[in-house]
Amino acid sequence: MRVRVDGRRCVGHGRCYALAPEVYADDERGHCVAPATELPRELEAQARRGAENCPEHAISVDARVESDRPRPEGRPPDRRTGPMSRPRS
Ligand code: F3S
Repeated sequence: MRVRVDGRRCVGHGRCYALAPEVYADDERGHCVAPATELPRELEAQARRGAENCPEHAISVDARVESDRPRPEGRPPDRRTGPMSRPRS
């Protein structure tokens, strides 16, 4: 699970880190700072509580785990394991 904060929307209401202090923190201006790393499932309810209580809708929660995410665009498939790598008879 990952959380993202849209810095263009966050104006520093502070509800996110007040309601979910294990997920969100504040910077020197009182704006939300979210961890850049994957969060454990145990924090999902808290992450959602913080996101749902942001009046600016600045926070998004992606519940997928890292292995569920699509590969970055433009990255070619691994040809060593694809059908083109089979020897021709
Ligand atoms: Fe910002 Fe919303 Fe939190 S405005 S500080 S993300 S409650």
